[in-house]
Amino acid sequence: MTELRTVPSIRATKRRHGGQSLVMVTAYDAPSARVATDADVDLILVGDSVAMVVAGYDDTLHVTIEEMAYHTAAVARTKPSAVVVGDMPWMSFHVSVEDTVTNAASLIRAGAKCVKMEGGAKRIPMIEAILNAEIPVMAHIGLTPQSSNVMGGFKIQGRQAEAVHDLIDEAKQLEACGCFALVIEGVPNAVGKMITDAVDIPTIGIGAGADTDGQVLVYHDIIGLENRFKPRFVRRYGTAYEDQVAALSSYAQDVRTGAFPAENEMYLIKDDLADALGLYGSTAPGERSENDSASVSPNNERNR
Ligand code: KIV
Repeated sequence: MTELRTVPSIRATKRRHGGQSLVMVTAYDAPSARVATDADVDLILVGDSVAMVVAGYDDTLHVTIEEMAYHTAAVARTKPSAVVVGDMPWMSFHVSVEDTVTNAASLIRAGAKCVKMEGGAKRIPMIEAILNAEIPVMAHIGLTPQSSNVMGGFKIQGRQAEAVHDLIDEAKQLEACGCFALVIEGVPNAVGKMITDAVDIPTIGIGAGADTDGQVLVYHDIIGLENRFKPRFVRRYGTAYEDQVAALSSYAQDVRTGAFPAENEMYLIKDDLADALGLYGSTAPGERSENDSASVSPNNERNR
């Protein structure tokens, strides 16, 4: 029986206070959420990376709040022991405070226990409004993919001293305004450590080195289903793409050769119906040969 994680239990997990590293993984559907639960992860992020990983877009800017709610609900229906984090997509928290709170609430109603929002200090008014609606917020700084056009691509952040000081300052402000955790993406390892040391809330890194309070990776990268490119920070733990091509190729071959389906994979007709349809001709059941059953097998035991 896996332990039920909650926002307060995650908030209390800081490595320097003796906490174990937090494990977060993305999931966008029920099967992957069940796998994540059986692997005993701490947090499941229904990330806007679904736009790139599943929907095939080149960036995350194309996914809507309705689509995020759909994926969040699919994950939440599996009742995971991990905290489900609903990712606020681009333009869901940029227009007005009212709009932002309504959008965050739609992810909570879909089953998320908290929301994640990209961006630093300039997002604080929206974050405060969400917190006032009793919705916990996980912040996300560093390489924020929703800003890819402003950043000129998916570029590692915190490469200059001033930028590093800004990141640390923003992390402190996000903690002070009430965020319960902080994702740090795409910064040099020493910067990940400096930010982690500067705050008392847990940090969860992706491409941010080994000194954050936890790690997050995209599900499809971990299992090797995304095999077209492998960023430096990804470690593949499986060969799902190759395994699935092999499985589908075997299926295709069996269909083409007639090896699939076999008799134990068919619904067999019952003797009385076969008789009524005249499928056995005039032969009595006891005298039927294997060949008589080529199209209708009298083996009712396996009928379902
Ligand atoms: O959407 C996502 O998958 C993310 C992670 C990369 C942190 O935001």
